[in-house]
Amino acid sequence: MTVVMTNRLPAFPFDWDGTRLPAEVEALRAEPVRRVRTIAGAEAWLVSSYELCRKVLEDPRFSLKDTSAPGAPRQYALTIPPHVVNNMGNITGAGLRKAVMKAINPKTPGLEEWLRARAGALVDALITEGAPGELRGAYADPYSAGLHCRMLGIPEEDGPRLLRSLDVAFMNAPHEIEAARLHWDRDIAYMTERLDDPATGGLMAELAALREDPDYAHLTDEMLATVGVTLFGAGVISTAGFLTMALVSVLTRPDVREALTTGAHGVAGAMDELLRVNLSIGDGLPRLALEDVRLGEVEVRAGELVLVLVEAANHDPERFPDPLVFRPDRENAAEHLSFGGGRHYCPATALGKRHAEIALETLLDRLPGLRLAVPVEQLVWRTNFMKRLPERLPVAW
Ligand code: HEM
Repeated sequence: MTVVMTNRLPAFPFDWDGTRLPAEVEALRAEPVRRVRTIAGAEAWLVSSYELCRKVLEDPRFSLKDTSAPGAPRQYALTIPPHVVNNMGNITGAGLRKAVMKAINPKTPGLEEWLRARAGALVDALITEGAPGELRGAYADPYSAGLHCRMLGIPEEDGPRLLRSLDVAFMNAPHEIEAARLHWDRDIAYMTERLDDPATGGLMAELAALREDPDYAHLTDEMLATVGVTLFGAGVISTAGFLTMALVSVLTRPDVREALTTGAHGVAGAMDELLRVNLSIGDGLPRLALEDVRLGEVEVRAGELVLVLVEAANHDPERFPDPLVFRPDRENAAEHLSFGGGRHYCPATALGKRHAEIALETLLDRLPGLRLAVPVEQLVWRTNFMKRLPERLPVAW
């Protein structure tokens, strides 16, 4: 008799349901660096303790850029050109960091007023149409897409089309996806046209103007268009994803609802705790080991893939006692890793927070009776995607 030896590693990601922390996270406490099998079929080290997750994010021997190197083990197939993985590095290298940081500053004059007005108009539309409403398609998505169109200085009516690209661009699939390449080419062509469109304002107009400056002779239209496409993509998927999942928390957890509406802290004071418990990141933040590095009990070898499991770090009882309890006054809530850490720390944390704060405040203030209008088990969770997302979030009020 022949014995077939199968290498049965746990498949990662574990669970797409965003209403609870996956059961596997608890089991990982005993093994904070664990071999897993990725969607692409590769082997990777899944890192789950707070301390080691932070170490990976902060240690330059773990590289994000090199995860797209040819032949490197992959979490899932790339949906963007390989060099774009190092997006912020490319932006900085091209001398565009200052312009980008200015554009994503929530203190930009008029921006907060615009966010309030846009959130208010979307609530008006929900009320006019009557319950039930759908909070992803009719609230979180158009609000986030609208903000990013405004920031880039492109027409808001183009938001829905750009938004549809993201349903494919952020898929976690084992093989390359034709639609991802088609969307990418189409969006780059669209954003390139905006550079020469006299109606363009915001960041894209600023970038277009740099083409006249001899100091920026190295810039190509494609590089500038890439900045627009990637900021729309990273920004909308992250802000809409976080807001949608914060709404899931509000609608399914009475403790969260109470803290936001009656607590002494209000929505703004609870924002870091909301980020800590948020389950919107559906995969692991990927890094490639550039050298052999000891990680806890494990010797990670150069060339191996390491995945940082943010939700496990954020629920590590060593760092956040009683991690499942929602506690807005938790002293160290802001130490969560929901914006990453180290050199790739999200550059738009202030905008991300303000965006969600205003949306939640507006909704809870205008619709105090807001509730889920279907049993929670009926929520349909998107699979094989970079973010956990309910396909629809039907509510009544
Ligand atoms: C609540 C909203 C947001 C969340 C939760 C979030 C989360 C994250 C996380 C976890 C990372 C680190 C990725 C890694 O280390 O591999 C990151 C990086 C990044 N985020 Fe955000 N983000 C948000 C909003 C935004 C917005 C609004 C923008 C732009 C408009 C943006 C642009 C970026 C960029 C360009 C990076 C890459 C930074 C680098 O590589 O240096 N994010 N974000």
